Amino acid sequence: MQILVTGGAGYIGSHTCFALLEAGHRVIVLDNLCNSKVSTLDKIKLLTNKEIIFYPLDVTNESSVDSIFLNHRIDAVFHFAGLKSVSESVKKPLEYYYNNVVSTLILAKACQKYNINKFIFSSSATVYGRNKVPFLEDSELMSATTPYGETKVISERILTDVAKANSEFSVSLLRYFNPVGAHKSGLIGEAPNNIPNNLMPYITQVAKGKMRKLKIFGDDYPTVDGSGVRDYIHVVDLALGHVAALNNLLPGVNVYNLGTGKGTSVFQLVKAFEEVNNVHVPYEITNRRSGDIAECYADVSKAEKELKWKAKLGIIDICRDAWRFEKKYEV
Ligand code: NAD
Ligand code: UFG
Repeated sequence: MQILVTGGAGYIGSHTCFALLEAGHRVIVLDNLCNSKVSTLDKIKLLTNKEIIFYPLDVTNESSVDSIFLNHRIDAVFHFAGLKSVSESVKKPLEYYYNNVVSTLILAKACQKYNINKFIFSSSATVYGRNKVPFLEDSELMSATTPYGETKVISERILTDVAKANSEFSVSLLRYFNPVGAHKSGLIGEAPNNIPNNLMPYITQVAKGKMRKLKIFGDDYPTVDGSGVRDYIHVVDLALGHVAALNNLLPGVNVYNLGTGKGTSVFQLVKAFEEVNNVHVPYEITNRRSGDIAECYADVSKAEKELKWKAKLGIIDICRDAWRFEKKYEV
């Protein structure tokens, strides 16, 4: 298939482009590079020995997006483009609502106009808000805790309503848990343009000496050791989950948790990183981060059963691969 990948130069998008090319698909990437670099696409070409068509454009620009659909035969859309900092979304809600919701509207509209009926959307476990763990796909989405989370809830609703109105439209809402790790080549990985917000890139940058200390946001949660618990999924497994979602796309709305089903605490992740890589990660305990929940992990039985997909890589692979990428990575 010829697949339009928005945000394909970013962290999850780049690993998914790799997986799609390896699975024999062709990809067209749209990315405004606000949080990525075009050199990532060159690295994917090097790894796969395949071409990628790239347009450096903003998905909120309707006429630019329209021209891509007009000029290429597209079989499916993978929509990764989005702003993803939870804390920034609290400070800049309008920017987040505009970028993340308008992009979804424009793509859905183009799909309708050009009769494209396969759509895979990057959603997030954050849509579960303060539900009880493990999170199940059919939980009621009571309320996300931040504007970022709301943009995912709203985008899910838009795509669900499009599917209700058009019985031929197939959409997969993939709710990622915590994507971490990097491709084993060490060539592609998580390389945010600014100071990272997420735990793993912070750990790798502290280990490399780019930052002095990791701040651990709270050690008084009701968890195994007081620090926050998350379901860390290797980005290579996550990318393969997208290929499985495409292969099993049914008309209507398909919702899947993409996680491992296992929770790991911040202290456990830091310790594993130090042991696997034989490096030191200095840290200090600070206050809880606003909006954070104590525990977040998936029930993954639906994806395992219906997509016949399961995460294969564990915390050791994650720590080793994230560090390999960080060591090789030059800004
Ligand atoms: P990323 O920032 O690495 O990638 C997003 C890409 O989209 C970047 O390359 C950026 O330049 C591009 N982009 C942003 N807005 C754009 C626009 N208007 N037009 C064109 N390009 C635009 O982030 P990621 O971690 O790869 O996340 C991909 C998707 O998955 C996002 O939608 C994110 O919200 C979602 N998600 C991420 C996580 C996570 O922890 N990484 C968890 C759950 C969901
Ligand atoms: N944490 C720290 N110090 C840091 C960064 C994070 O202690 O410098 C802690 C957090 O408090 C949390 C855990 O590490 O307990 C993971 O935090 P991340 O920021 O890495 O990830 P979140 O779980 O907060 O959020 C991530 C993505 C969201 C996505 C969500 C889905 O950033 O986009 O996972 O589960 F919605």
